[in-house]
Amino acid sequence: MTRSATPFLAAAALALAVPGAALAWSDQPVDPSAEHPQVPVDYEENGRYYTEEGIPTYEIDEDGTVDWLTFSGFRRYHAECHTCHGPDGEGSTYAPKIKNSAVNMDYYDFYATVVNGRHNGNSVMPSFGENPNVMCYLDDIYVYLKARGMDAVARGRPSKKDPKSDAISEMENACMG
Ligand code: HEC
Repeated sequence: MTRSATPFLAAAALALAVPGAALAWSDQPVDPSAEHPQVPVDYEENGRYYTEEGIPTYEIDEDGTVDWLTFSGFRRYHAECHTCHGPDGEGSTYAPKIKNSAVNMDYYDFYATVVNGRHNGNSVMPSFGENPNVMCYLDDIYVYLKARGMDAVARGRPSKKDPKSDAISEMENACMG
C-alpha cells in the first residue's frame, strides 16, 4: 500500500458518492478503440439502429454516409442544445462536453437528465420533458452525440446521409401531434 494512493482513492470514492459532483461523465475521456457495449449495431428496425440491449445507436458507412438519426440529431442538437453545450457537443465554459457523456453515461440516465433537468448550484440544465422539439428527437440527439464522442463523425454537418424511412416520418408525426 503506497501512501500517495490512499487520498486519491478516497477522493474518487467521494466523487462517486455525490451525484453531480466532481467526477462528471463529460470529464471522463473516451477511448474509441476500447470496447463500448453501448455502441456496436446489433440490429436495424425501420431505419433505426440498436445495440444488442436495444439501446439506440449510430450506423456509419465506410464512405462516411450516416444513418438518418445521426443526421437528424446533428440538426436538433444545434437547434436546442449547442447554445449551452457548444457546437458539435464539445462543451463550453458554461455546460459540459456531452459528446463524452453520451458514451459514458447510461442511456436511461442521459434520457432522464434531459427530461427532468438537473442543477448543481448555479449550474443549471433545464428540463425538456415538455418540449416536443427535444422529446420527439431525443434518440436522434443521443445517437449523434454518441457518434461524436466515439469520433465516428467529424465536427460539422455530415455531408452524406441515408434517406429518412417512412416509419421514422410516421413516428415523428405521431409524436409532434
Ligand atoms: C441553458 C443551458 C443548457 C441547455 C440549452 C442544455 N443544457 Fe444540458 N446541461 C447544462 C448544464 C449547465 C449542465 C450541467 C448541470 C450540472 O452541473 O449538474 C448540463 C448537463 C447535461 C447533461 C449531463 C451531462 C453529464 O455528463 O452528467 C446532459 C446529458 C445534457 N445536459 C444534455 C442536454 C441536451 C441533450 C440538451 C438539448 C436538448 C441540453 N442539455 C441543453 C445546460 C444546458
